[in-house]
Amino acid sequence: MNATKVRVPDLARMKAHGARITMLTAYDFPFARIFDQAGVDVLLVGDSLGMAVQGRESTLPVTVEDIVYHLQMVTRARTRALVVGDMPFMSYQASVKTAIQNAGRLLKDGGAEAVKLEGGTSIAPTVRRLAEVDIPVMGHIGLTPQSIHRMGGFRVQGRRAGTAAGCRDRLIEDALALSEAGAFAIVLEGMPAELAAEITRLCPVPTIGIGAGPECDGQVLVMHDMLGLSDSPGPRFAKRYAALWELAETAAADYVREVREGVFPTPQHSYRAKEFAP
Ligand code: KIV
Repeated sequence: MNATKVRVPDLARMKAHGARITMLTAYDFPFARIFDQAGVDVLLVGDSLGMAVQGRESTLPVTVEDIVYHLQMVTRARTRALVVGDMPFMSYQASVKTAIQNAGRLLKDGGAEAVKLEGGTSIAPTVRRLAEVDIPVMGHIGLTPQSIHRMGGFRVQGRRAGTAAGCRDRLIEDALALSEAGAFAIVLEGMPAELAAEITRLCPVPTIGIGAGPECDGQVLVMHDMLGLSDSPGPRFAKRYAALWELAETAAADYVREVREGVFPTPQHSYRAKEFAP
């Protein structure tokens, strides 16, 4: 294992030293290996795989088995990064017992080093119990995709004052409740930059932003958004560092044309029978 392996307590040290935390989602061996070698600190096997990989409309149908399957590929590839597994919808909400059993599976069967779950004050007792049995928990508040039906779509949260779910004061309460319950970091998704900055100042544990402005302790993006591996423009908060969709489209079209025209394969791509001396 790499000497500079990132471990759960390192994230707190990074916040203390003002070192930005980098996190990307990964779902398979090749991309996990590429990101790990590029120095990404945290690889998240997110339930975003439901949309980014499985082509679904939301993350709700993703199962614990799906996350374990993708975690196994990612943990085989990783040498340095901390690997976090997402707890899918209804794998932790029904009871603390099922939350512990399912989180345990992500660590035992998938090889994750921590789990992530969505929600604030209402989920804090579960976070506390997981932390007590030494399952490190990353929280996730703001635009929580598993709450799509409450939010009425994927909508920016925390724009209004108040303590109702998704309102500004409630999100501050949520972040403090999670850190008090033992979460080691909190994802802040889809909220005004000023609110994310305030939560980052108030919160003793690192915040990792996505669509939450530049003042979080770290940043996370879905790999497909970061690499341009999608045929739609992607969310406004994401930056495309490559155009892999277009690249793959051109490569596939070139291959189809060359096979049809007899340009590929050539003798260079072919085997020959062994020649024996008479
Ligand atoms: O599922 C996911 O990929 C996530 C990130 C967007 C934080 O939760």
